[in-house]
Amino acid sequence: MGRKPLYFLIVGVFLAYYVYLPLPEDFEEPWKIIQLNAYIKTIIHLAEFVELLGLNNFVDSLTIFLGPSEVPPTSDENITVTETTFNHIPVRVYVPKRKSEALRRGVFYIHGGGWCHGSAASKQQDLLSRWTADRLDAVVISVSYRLAPKYHFPVQFEDAYNSLKWFLRKEVLAKYGVNPERIGVSGSSSGANLAAAVAQQLLDDPDVKIKLKTQSLIYPVLQALDVDTPSYREHSHFPLLFKSVMVRHWSEYFTTDRSLEKAMLSHQHVPVESSHLFKFVNWSSLLPERFIKGHVYNNPTYGKSELSKKYPGFLDVRAAPLLADDKKLRGLPRTHVITCEYDVLRDDGIMYVTRLQNAGVPVTHNHIEDGFHGSFLLLKFKISSRMINQYISWLSEYL
Ligand SMILES: *[C@@H]1O[C@H](CO)[C@@H](O)[C@H](O)[C@H]1NC(C)=O
Ligand SMILES: *[C@@H]1O[C@H](CO)[C@@H](O)[C@H](O)[C@H]1NC(C)=O
Repeated sequence: MGRKPLYFLIVGVFLAYYVYLPLPEDFEEPWKIIQLNAYIKTIIHLAEFVELLGLNNFVDSLTIFLGPSEVPPTSDENITVTETTFNHIPVRVYVPKRKSEALRRGVFYIHGGGWCHGSAASKQQDLLSRWTADRLDAVVISVSYRLAPKYHFPVQFEDAYNSLKWFLRKEVLAKYGVNPERIGVSGSSSGANLAAAVAQQLLDDPDVKIKLKTQSLIYPVLQALDVDTPSYREHSHFPLLFKSVMVRHWSEYFTTDRSLEKAMLSHQHVPVESSHLFKFVNWSSLLPERFIKGHVYNNPTYGKSELSKKYPGFLDVRAAPLLADDKKLRGLPRTHVITCEYDVLRDDGIMYVTRLQNAGVPVTHNHIEDGFHGSFLLLKFKISSRMINQYISWLSEYL
């Protein structure tokens, strides 16, 4: 073979690998997702390579490659934006400028990013908080909790919880003009994980007298026991969130030791003593038939108990809210869950919908047939504004 054909072959294979993405024919804006896929794959490979060389942790490299996207807390014509701390935890506060006779709604927002990336100051989070405050005439609090791999579970949870607790005090609500009967917690992805977890934790906290009115969970991640659900099987290579990357972030939430990730990938991380927990994440009984689509449920496999002794977090309900029992779920506020079809986490969200409905909690479930993980805040995609509208409309009706 001459040099030229060889060169074309290499470029061809390279392009096919980075660009190939099977999509249904009617997928909206296919080229955008194909570009996103190539971009995400490239930075993942770079981050893996940098880690292989021993230069930097994979998730830290991802943060660097994703680039700085923070914006300052700038007020605009409609919203006053300030930064402060609630119980020593940094938060951004968005207050509408227009006069209001009545007390306002309050939205406590928890950003996503796999417990490792992002902050309230990220450009997209900041825009979402502004729009929410403006369109709902609400006070929005957006929290910047500490991140892995520098901090592990339960720090992220505790930062979210302690700042929310600080907010839910009469003096603080009065200071911002918030109606104590109209407060909701919201989050996307790992932020929805934290939102679901803090909503549960509040139910048992004798110090907190003020109750949440709503929780809004956008493509939540809710359990680390079963990473072989139908959605994990079907969408493990769909951008933005590949299965390998999700499992890495799960494990990074608890430890930088890679043995947990390896055990999770081979489904050997849960010890037999915890077998009773599988009923809470049993997709063969919790998913509607149209999502099971012929997938066969394999009975759980078990691993050594050393891992869970060292890193008990992955069995902890504060990290995996789907592990709460029905008695706990019964006390939860009215819930909005948005799931996306092209998302390994689709079934986490749907199983929570089933469990909440079984427990008698009023739930609105919006399943986005052409949605994918990340589409809520990828503002360049048309689907993003559709999802944001759905999120804000639901709050305007129920909060
Ligand atoms: C402020 O509100 C007005 C009226 O709703 C709207 O037209 C304008 O775009 C808003 N400004 C910003 C910066 O969002
Ligand atoms: C899961 O549910 C199926 C069907 O409802 C049942 O047969 C199976 O025993 C359950 N397995 C676990 C581990 O809960």
